[in-house]
Amino acid sequence: MTTVEQLGALADHSHAVITTHQHAGGAYPASPTFSAYRGYAWLRDGGFTAEGVSRYGDVTSANRFHDWVGRVLADRRGQVDDLCALRSAGATVPVDRMLPTRFTFDGRNGSDPWWDFQTDGYGTWLWSVVTHAERHGLDLDRWRPGIEVAVDFLTAFWDLPCFDWWEEHDEHRHVSTLAAIHGGLSAAARVLGSDRAAEAADAARRLALTDGVRDGHLTKWLGSGAVDGSLPACVVPFGLVGVDDPIATATLAKVATDLDVDGGVHRFTADVFYGGGQWLLLSALLGWNLARAGDRAGARRHLTWIADHATADGEFPEQVPDHLLHPASRQEWVDKWGPVATPLLWSHGMYLILADELGLLT
Ligand code: BGC
Repeated sequence: MTTVEQLGALADHSHAVITTHQHAGGAYPASPTFSAYRGYAWLRDGGFTAEGVSRYGDVTSANRFHDWVGRVLADRRGQVDDLCALRSAGATVPVDRMLPTRFTFDGRNGSDPWWDFQTDGYGTWLWSVVTHAERHGLDLDRWRPGIEVAVDFLTAFWDLPCFDWWEEHDEHRHVSTLAAIHGGLSAAARVLGSDRAAEAADAARRLALTDGVRDGHLTKWLGSGAVDGSLPACVVPFGLVGVDDPIATATLAKVATDLDVDGGVHRFTADVFYGGGQWLLLSALLGWNLARAGDRAGARRHLTWIADHATADGEFPEQVPDHLLHPASRQEWVDKWGPVATPLLWSHGMYLILADELGLLT
């Protein structure tokens, strides 16, 4: 039985893990020790992690992260202007010229090959920085140059197929990616008063709701019938559909039926990465949505499940192997990349968000 005190202590520890590993320049490393992630920061992971830190009340750490992203993106102004000019001229932009999926801590692409290109992180960051500024009454001007670069990039390229949250299937257009773009551009449109951002946000939503719904629920990609553990984000926080919308209810139900086992949530049924375990951050995402839908007991079940999977040092891994969808595929990943990423800062950030939703942050 996990007590309220233990849940609260894990929130304090989560904040400590995140801030201990925050780079001096402001970036949140995805996982400081994991072979394939070491030295890199993602806007997707960082955007959610910053939201957890902002809710925890550590304005300074979240500011430092947003200052870092703001600087990194402002420095890309020329690159994005060139990309937008190519797009306006009707040219196909080669993927290796696009903004990257992840950055080194000094804002470069890095030299290790990765699954570029992905657009959701830019939307997630826009949502995160605006939400943080609004929560704490901060002047957004310090981040405006970076925000404008992200808006220009997304309004030019939001409708292209790209890799998804899991860096897979760049032949498809993914509903959770469209939702992150919708959420980010809507937030930016609100604070910048930008019609262009509002129109693209709306178009992304219309496309997702036209081709990304099957049997009343949102789908993994346009034209698919399957769900993905990232889909609850389309409701909260990205607002592609409202909490009371029947599509939201059906999506949460389908994700729970297909992917939730004992409170831990899988990414998707065909997932073979480390055997396809349960992801702590997805459990938190579903819990966050249940809390907003009024199911506090359901939300608490997910928070407790996550807490029960902390290591002896209070660290949260990326996934756990209690229930594997494809056990035979686990060892090949251990051989390739070593043990599962631990700590994963995004897991800790999501724990803070759900703990806050349940009123457990003091
Ligand atoms: C996941 C991404 C994540 C990255 C860094 C990858 O394995 O698929 O969603 O952004 O790790 O944590």
